[in-house]
Amino acid sequence: MRKSVIALACLIAVAGLLAVRAQETPPQKKADPQRDVAAVMKEKLRYSHQLLTSLAREDYAQLEVAAQELARIAREEWAGNPTEEYRTQLQVFWTTLEGIESGAQRKEIDEATLAYMQMTLSCVKCHKLIRREQQKQ
Ligand code: HEC
Repeated sequence: MRKSVIALACLIAVAGLLAVRAQETPPQKKADPQRDVAAVMKEKLRYSHQLLTSLAREDYAQLEVAAQELARIAREEWAGNPTEEYRTQLQVFWTTLEGIESGAQRKEIDEATLAYMQMTLSCVKCHKLIRREQQKQ
């Protein structure tokens, strides 16, 4: 019990940091009139907050819905982003969402929490890659 409280406290700290970073240093919007990337990412941020809330409450139904919404967004992004590297990142992101969904379905809080942490890493990793690419240009 104590271990999971500590794990959750860490998660909340990571999520908080992510939120603050997102506000402080918003990545530059790409000049693509067809897609509003910032709006999509705000949606991602909203659902990932929902994931954290659901984990804290052990609300498996909401956890599953939020993971499915994120997977839906990832599918839409897949269609609009043909580059191989971006798709690789999307696939990693997807896999972590599947882990959250499976944890929710099996009501395995530890499995779901681990997958959530992996998802957080995949958010950061994709952003890091994109920033590196923008610096190259
Ligand atoms: C497959 C790659 C990828 C993944 C995974 C990803 N993002 Fe993003 N994210 C992007 C891109 C692309 C941008 C826009 C960068 C740019 O504008 O050049 C972005 C930007 C953002 C922004 C800044 C939006 C703004 O206001 O400009 C936030 C917040 C964000 N993402 C949240 C998240 C969260 C939370 C996750 C994980 C749940 C996530 N992203 C996962 C690709 C990704």
